Amino acid sequence: MTALPASCSLVDLTVHGDTRGSLIALEQGTGLPFAIQRVYYIYGTARNTARGFHAHHQLQQLAICVAGSCTMIVDDGVQRVEVPLDRPDRGLHIGSPIWREMTDFSDDCVLLVLASAPYEDADYIRDYDEFRRVAAERNGDLS
Ligand code: TYD
Repeated sequence: MTALPASCSLVDLTVHGDTRGSLIALEQGTGLPFAIQRVYYIYGTARNTARGFHAHHQLQQLAICVAGSCTMIVDDGVQRVEVPLDRPDRGLHIGSPIWREMTDFSDDCVLLVLASAPYEDADYIRDYDEFRRVAAERNGDLS
């Protein structure tokens, strides 16, 4: 896999496993990259469906495929990286602004997403050209 954009990273989650199976706890102050304010999950995705196609101005998310598999495409406006998500013990931390697309959902895929803020329409960037402008401005601010 090509290197992830600077504001994205894979996060290995601590598994409490024993002979009964596995348990993962996601709790504030135990290594998560941001304070969780919202949780949602995507499941029962129709065959050959892609979702996402947006970025956020501020939101941070941690996407964990807790069952099945899918692909998360993350794009920082310069490079586009396909990240396979197929393990319940690994999350993809997605910062902002990152354009994301989700594809290749298996029938049994359950994609759990932790988010750093409540749902807010104003935080969405749904036009790719606008996203490119925002990303270029943000990167300019950093240099
Ligand atoms: P949508 O943004 O289309 O999802 P995706 O990013 O996977 O393509 O969201 C689908 C619907 O769910 C839309 O009507 C907005 C609503 N929604 C909420 O109410 N709260 C949320 O936290 C999210 C992510 C979506």
